[in-house]
Amino acid sequence: MASATAIAHPNIALIKYWGVRDDTLNLPASGSLSITLDGLETRTKVTFDNTLPADTLELDGQTANPQATARASAHLDRIRHLVGSTVPARVVSQNSFPASTGIASSASGFAALTVAAASAMGLDLSPKELSILARKGSGSASRSIFGGFAEWHKGEDDPTSFAEQIWPPDHWDLVDWIAVVDRLPKLTGSHEGHRLASTSPLQETRVASAPERLDECRSALMARDFQRLAAVVELDSHMMHAVMMTSFPPLLYWSAGSIQLMKKVAGWRAEGIDVCYTLDAGPTVHCITTAEHSSQVEALLQSDADVIELYRGVPGPPAHLVAS
Ligand code: DP6
Repeated sequence: MASATAIAHPNIALIKYWGVRDDTLNLPASGSLSITLDGLETRTKVTFDNTLPADTLELDGQTANPQATARASAHLDRIRHLVGSTVPARVVSQNSFPASTGIASSASGFAALTVAAASAMGLDLSPKELSILARKGSGSASRSIFGGFAEWHKGEDDPTSFAEQIWPPDHWDLVDWIAVVDRLPKLTGSHEGHRLASTSPLQETRVASAPERLDECRSALMARDFQRLAAVVELDSHMMHAVMMTSFPPLLYWSAGSIQLMKKVAGWRAEGIDVCYTLDAGPTVHCITTAEHSSQVEALLQSDADVIELYRGVPGPPAHLVAS
């Protein structure tokens, strides 16, 4: 029996990945850029065990549903394939944040699974190789392999589509206040949503202009210019949601609370607070602020009637092995 345990953190995309151009390889329609978030984590133990009849997956203390188990199993196959193994694995995974928050657990989940399974298989892979592997499990997981600020290059093919760190965590002490405004279960997950992106008449424009927004986001981060960052982050989030809303069938991820909060955040910024918002495939509002304005933003969100729960994420470390 060979086992290994890894911890990985979710990430928040400042410039989003939405749409795939190759289903099998999970090649994205455009490049994306994110902050890996410390304060939230997935811890995954993988044990390869010859006595098991098949792969098993335990998620937050419960046996996972067959769909989730099959997705993890397909990912384990990619890793087993590298060494010609067929040994089944027991996977035990625990998130430090509740699944209902709308914080994507697939990024941290597949990053942790990749790092733990590769190590348990005796593979010594580079971060770039781990990123390529993680990408095939879940696109955003390619970025959670790295700490700090990470960019996932769209690439041309399998070996050229990977993420890399563009700045370490201490480059800029930004804070992500994650405001849960709705607990309704998601109707369409991002995995399915990516496949609908090309049905939107707006996706082509979004994809064509993504390199400009990536450049602008990198420049704003480089200069630590919050106003510039806010403008491009909110634009990119709106563009992704415009594509979602105009897909067929349409995907409406925002709830009333999301819209109320987006307006309030814009108002707070107009009053001089460094804060902006971005939303992934759900109603949860990620409020990005600076360390300087963080407690002010926290107090505003704590007392806000639309906010049900609040989590804090700061630029954090890469996915890494830990003692089990
Ligand atoms: C809206 O990485 O969860 O969060 O590759 O199908 O697993 P799969 O999708 P996933 O998509 C994340 C989309 C997003 C934007 C982003 O993180 O870039």
